[in-house]
Amino acid sequence: MRKKIVAGNWKMNKTFTEAEELLAYIAESIEKETPCEVVTCPPAVYLEMATDFAMESNLLVGAQNVSQFEGGAYTGEISAAMLDSIDVNYCIVGHSERRKYFHETDEMLAQKVNILLDYGINPIFCCGEQLGEREKEIHFGVVRSQLQNGLFHLNESEFHNVVIAYEPVWAIGTGRTASPEQAQEMHGFIRSLVTEKYGKKVADDTTILYGGSCNAGNARELFSQEDVDGGLIGGASLKGEEFIKIVNSF
Ligand code: PGA
Repeated sequence: MRKKIVAGNWKMNKTFTEAEELLAYIAESIEKETPCEVVTCPPAVYLEMATDFAMESNLLVGAQNVSQFEGGAYTGEISAAMLDSIDVNYCIVGHSERRKYFHETDEMLAQKVNILLDYGINPIFCCGEQLGEREKEIHFGVVRSQLQNGLFHLNESEFHNVVIAYEPVWAIGTGRTASPEQAQEMHGFIRSLVTEKYGKKVADDTTILYGGSCNAGNARELFSQEDVDGGLIGGASLKGEEFIKIVNSF
């Protein structure tokens, strides 16, 4: 079944005490029923703290990255087995900041998706075009090739566990959100690609999140679009009250 999800991507923010405060606030605020799954993706050093909160609440936990390697001599890396061993539920893959600053290629992303699925962790696979690509009107082709190269090697039962996040790079951290129409247009396109590849039933069940300057002021309109199933929230996930307002925007 298609899930509604709001996931907070904290990126490289928060000290230990700040992380503890924010996690406690979120966990407490979602004690009662929420209209969607709530996922928090803190920096890796706070993942275990987050999974401790998750044990006592409805919170789900996501990592921001995973190594494409199984384990061994890869200094600084964190493996899917490690994430699994502390009960992490989701992992962001292919965020545009990882593609840009850490030179992650489609091939590496496909390996990361595979290893996560091997360990039962759900990938949140990011795709999205840069501003110049939208201006050249090649944004649909860019997103198509990101999905084809990073995800569409999966078989149907594997694909079932994947969440897609459409994040136009020009909207990330810029305050310039995609309009609800632009988001819907791309989300509808992504769902049509999933239909072509895996059939209508799988496509109807696929969760497609929007990310890029989504906040408490614009979430409701974005989430009301037919093919927008929630959000991957950066800056606005760092403030507890605002994040909870977004969670309640369905
Ligand atoms: P933003 O980031 O909400 O700060 O634009 C979204 C993301 O990068 O996931």
